[in-house]
Amino acid sequence: MIHVRTGTHSRIMSVGGYQPSRVVPNSEIVDRIDSTDEWIRQRTGIEERRFAAPDESVLDMAEAACKQALSRAKLTMADIDTVIVATITYPFQAPSAATALIARLGNPKAAAFDINAACAGFCYGVGMASDFVRSGTSKHVLVVGVEKLTDFTDPDDRATAFIFADGAGAVVIGPSETPQIGPTEWGSDADSRDAILMEPSWNEFRNDAQGISWPNIAQQGQAVFRWAVYSVSKAASRALAAAGVRPDQLDAFIPHQANVRIIETMAKEIGIPDSVVIAQDIRTSGNTSAASIPLAMASLLEERPDLHGGLALLIGYGAGLVYAGQVVQLPPKP
Ligand code: UT7
Repeated sequence: MIHVRTGTHSRIMSVGGYQPSRVVPNSEIVDRIDSTDEWIRQRTGIEERRFAAPDESVLDMAEAACKQALSRAKLTMADIDTVIVATITYPFQAPSAATALIARLGNPKAAAFDINAACAGFCYGVGMASDFVRSGTSKHVLVVGVEKLTDFTDPDDRATAFIFADGAGAVVIGPSETPQIGPTEWGSDADSRDAILMEPSWNEFRNDAQGISWPNIAQQGQAVFRWAVYSVSKAASRALAAAGVRPDQLDAFIPHQANVRIIETMAKEIGIPDSVVIAQDIRTSGNTSAASIPLAMASLLEERPDLHGGLALLIGYGAGLVYAGQVVQLPPKP
């Protein structure tokens, strides 16, 4: 008979974040896309965002977020046996960002891999990390969401230039005596996979003698908006039901930071009452894709330390189209 370690639950032990120092207000974006500060604020809630310096890489940002998460968990890299990096903007197809990261952080023997689930990547990673810990495959897992979206965004594209930004967020997931991470509700709507996509392909870019443009992210904003509000809200409700938690039992709602109007409509669809704190980090951070949920979690806990240990609903969604969410207990005060 195969022996498996069972009886262990999982929890988020800590969260860390990193944002580049350069603050970019709407006024710096608008001229190239014939827009206004007012339009961007009204349609998305975004007031400003952070852009990485040209020589600041995905790895630099991931490393900084991981170091903060490790120190807050009072662990060192020697305690980490698994690293999952969620990103769509690491500029190497292979080897992975995760293996480069473990070499930098000083444990080049850890299990390490990247996942490509776009803006849902962090919640995909949390789900896997939780299951790895509960099954005994891993003891302590670093889950990192990191993006340098400015490398893959056309500053002249009216549909994306004002939305995307850069940053990194990380959590340590480890063993627990009580269940602190609920089942992951995840899935795809792959028939709509061209609603957000990077184009052209690397092959087309390389082979085209006319010099077609660099692969950038493109999106059909309205289609994504409708899908997020109606389909992803239902997935979030299923994540609550799977965890046996009612909306009024939540302390916080931390969805992917894509648009304040989506966040507010989703909260209504799910039936989240006014007593629940809703993360709106998008206002000052923009949309950082895989980094947006851990960054929003980190900044919420800095603003509202009373939320440490509270119950939060996480839900990520994006290119694929893919989604994932779960109810978690927020990490304790470091
Ligand atoms: O993280 C990945 C997931 N992505 C998302 O969740 C994005 C979801 N979608 C959105 O957040 C919204 O669709 C956007 C913020 C991208 C766009 O907002 P919208 O309310 O859907 O705008 P729209 O495309 O319906 O355009 C409305 C109007 C149009 O003008 P008319 O036809 O009403 O005169 C557009 O031409 O706004 C105009 N418009 C703009 N105006 C100023 C479109 N883009 C811009 C712009 N600046 N950048």
